[in-house]
Amino acid sequence: MFSSIAKKNLEKDSRVLGKAWEGTYGGYFSDKKNIQNFLERIIPFLPEYPLDILYVASASGILGEAIIRYLGKGNLTLVDISQKHLNANNNPNTKKICCDLLNLDLRKKFDLVVMRSSLDYFPTRESQVKVLKIIKDHIKKNGLFINQPAYVSNMKDRDIISHIYTSVEKIGDRLFQSEDLEGIYIEAGYKQFKKIGEGEKLIITQEDHIKRYNLGEDDIAYIQSIITQNSSYAEKTEDGYILRFDFPIFLANI
Ligand SMILES: C[S@@+](CC[C@H](N)C(=O)[O-])C[C@H]1O[C@@H](n2cnc3c(N)ncnc32)[C@H](O)[C@@H]1O
Repeated sequence: MFSSIAKKNLEKDSRVLGKAWEGTYGGYFSDKKNIQNFLERIIPFLPEYPLDILYVASASGILGEAIIRYLGKGNLTLVDISQKHLNANNNPNTKKICCDLLNLDLRKKFDLVVMRSSLDYFPTRESQVKVLKIIKDHIKKNGLFINQPAYVSNMKDRDIISHIYTSVEKIGDRLFQSEDLEGIYIEAGYKQFKKIGEGEKLIITQEDHIKRYNLGEDDIAYIQSIITQNSSYAEKTEDGYILRFDFPIFLANI
C-alpha cells in the first residue's frame, strides 16, 4: 500500500521516471564530478569491512552503484517507490525493492544507509521525522546514515521555495531542508549529526521546471509573484526565475 504522499510523488514525477531521470536538471544527479565529490567526502568515514548498503529513494541507484564500485566489495539494496526507476538498474547483484519508505519494514539492518535529495519529498516535519525513524530502524548498532539533502540555509527562503513547489499543482509537494534539520534528526532519535562535506549547488530555472513539470506561462507568473524579494536562493528574472539549492552532506549515527 502506498501512502497518499508516495502516490502524489510518483504522479508528479511521471515525466522523469526511469532513464529520463539521468538527464533531469542538466544531469546533475548522474554527473560524474558530483558523484566523485560525494565519494571523496564519505569514504574517510566508512569502515574497511564489506558493507551491506541500503540506498533509500534511490531512483535507479547510480550513486549507490558508484559507492559499491569504488569500494570493490559489499552489497547494495535499492528502495524506491517507482518500479520504472528500479528497472533502469541492470546490475544483477543489486537488490531492488519497490516500496513506499513510509511503510518500509525489511526486517534487516544495514551498515550504511544512503539518501540523496529525497527527504524533501516528505512535505511535513512530521513525515520527515517518521521517515528518519523508519530509516533508523534499518541501521545496525554501529551503522551510519549519510544524507545529502537539497538545502536552503535560511528558513525564510526555505519556506518560500517549499511554498512554490507545494502550491503549484503540477509540481510535487516539498519541504526542503534548512537549519532545523538537526532538530528533525534528534526528534527521530539519532545521536550524532555532523556535516562532512558540500556538493555543487543545484541551479534550477523556469526552463528546467517547464521540461520536468510541463509548467505554463501562468505557473511561471504565479511563481514570480511569490518571489517578492530576490535572495541568493530565489531570484525573479525577466523571463522567469532562478532557484539555487545547497547540497551539504550529513553523517549521523544511531
Ligand atoms: C529527487 S529524486 C532523487 C533520486 C536519487 N536519490 C538521486 O539522487 O538521483 C527522489 C526519489 O525519491 C523517490 N521517492 C519519492 N517518494 C518516495 C517514497 N514515499 N518512498 C520511496 N521512494 C520515494 C522518487 O521515486 C525518486 O526516485
